Amino acid sequence: MPGEDAGAVTLRPYRDADLPDLLDIAIAAWEPIRASFRAILGPDLFAVAFPDWRGEKRRQIASACRGEHGARVLVAELHGRPVGFASYYLDHHTGIGQIGNNAVHPGHQGSGIGTRMYKRVLADMRQAGMRCVKVTTGGDDSHAPARRAYQKVGFGCPIPSVTYFREL
Ligand SMILES: CC(C)(COP(=O)(O)OP(=O)(O)OC[C@H]1O[C@@H](n2cnc3c(N)ncnc32)[C@H](O)[C@@H]1OP(=O)(O)O)[C@@H](O)C(=O)NCCC(=O)NCCS
Repeated sequence: MPGEDAGAVTLRPYRDADLPDLLDIAIAAWEPIRASFRAILGPDLFAVAFPDWRGEKRRQIASACRGEHGARVLVAELHGRPVGFASYYLDHHTGIGQIGNNAVHPGHQGSGIGTRMYKRVLADMRQAGMRCVKVTTGGDDSHAPARRAYQKVGFGCPIPSVTYFREL
């Protein structure tokens, strides 16, 4: 039952065996986001601006899972299988934490797993001495769940930004 997912979920650090599942979760979760971008840009501009987005997303997740740039990865596990993950970074020099790529498998979204992951990440950051945390997300409709989920765990003070495109 989707509504029961969050309570049954275990949160734990990433293990090497998780990688294939995390890559699958990421691609499934980003399909609607890239479909939104494609609708905004049109197919031709989208093909130029986001070539091989699945490969690029997989490379980003794999890099975080290798701990590159100090990345930590939290995994949400349900019945022995990962259903979500959150990558994050701690800057001990500035005291600023940052949430990176994160997702919950579409089949398990909307049941509180993202909220639980973010709360754990924020707790870890506080324990590590971070003084603030930032996250960047999209302003289009496909990012409405992410914006809501971040707001739900207390993120605010948004600095608006916009990315423009044009063909050359
Ligand atoms: C963002 C994401 C990780 C949230 O995970 P989740 O497990 O679905 O989050 P939760 O179940 O804790 O829901 C958090 C809030 O978002 C809301 N939400 C879910 N889908 C929504 C939608 N389509 N529109 C608006 N709000 C939505 C939930 O209702 C909940 O708020 P509520 O408790 O006030 O109702 C998940 O939606 C996802 O993987 N999205 C695609 C990838 C992505 O955007 N990652 C972040 C990139 S910056």
